Amino acid sequence: MLNLLKRKTTNWNKVAEEYDELVGDSGDFNHKTYINPVILSILGNVRNRNILDLACGQGYFARILHSKGAHVVGVDISEKLIEIARDKFSELGIRFEVADAAEMNGIESNQFDAVVCNMSFHDIERLSETVDEIARVLRIGGKLAFSMPHPWTDLAKTVKDGENYYLRLEKYKSVVEVPNNMYGDKGIVSYHRPLEFYIKKLSQHQFEITDFVEISKEHSKGEKISDRKLLDHKREFPSFLVVGAIKNLNPS
Ligand SMILES: C[S@@+](CC[C@H](N)C(=O)[O-])C[C@H]1O[C@@H](n2cnc3c(N)ncnc32)[C@H](O)[C@@H]1O
Repeated sequence: MLNLLKRKTTNWNKVAEEYDELVGDSGDFNHKTYINPVILSILGNVRNRNILDLACGQGYFARILHSKGAHVVGVDISEKLIEIARDKFSELGIRFEVADAAEMNGIESNQFDAVVCNMSFHDIERLSETVDEIARVLRIGGKLAFSMPHPWTDLAKTVKDGENYYLRLEKYKSVVEVPNNMYGDKGIVSYHRPLEFYIKKLSQHQFEITDFVEISKEHSKGEKISDRKLLDHKREFPSFLVVGAIKNLNPS
């Protein structure tokens, strides 16, 4: 079973170069326009803060945090992505490690002021254990900021009927493995989980949720959507979810 898990998640190795081209040194259009501004505002002033960029990919967001004065460690399960991250950004003084987010054996407890997991929670198979690990490595009062496609987007399709757009949604409460077609047939999968999964898991560790931002997209492939009905639909059903939480602020 463990081998199977490893094989599936490290399929990210197969798309490492493609992913690097897509996000470059500053993120893709959606990261730059919609997601990163919210994540950065949740993190606040990061100067001299110790930050873990979890599931950091090729390290572009670790670079951004470093440029704002943070001391950053990046962790990812993909050896190839970490190799690219090291080539590009190690000389800045950012440390990059290969590890499964659910088992960060080489990472000391209670050491980070913040953990960021940008557009990756939905890509992590053992997310429950991962949140346990985040709670372990964060200091009390430390911040967690994570983003992902809004959970409804995993399983729903937008369909047009006449002039109007609707969602067709067959499942919501089930935890479902969803093929990620963005990279063709390379075996990349994401995991749909209902919102209650995230809330329950965070409260198990006494995280206090400080930010819960549902972001609506107004662009498609970088262009502002011109179809008024589609724009209204996109505004009504947000594309991304960004959450900020503080570890154990007021332990009972
Ligand atoms: C969509 S990419 C996002 C990467 C980066 N955070 C960014 O915003 O560019 C998802 C990342 O999750 C990583 N990943 C998937 N499962 C993981 C796990 N169990 N532990 C650590 N990283 C994982 C993948 O290798 C990939 O780099």
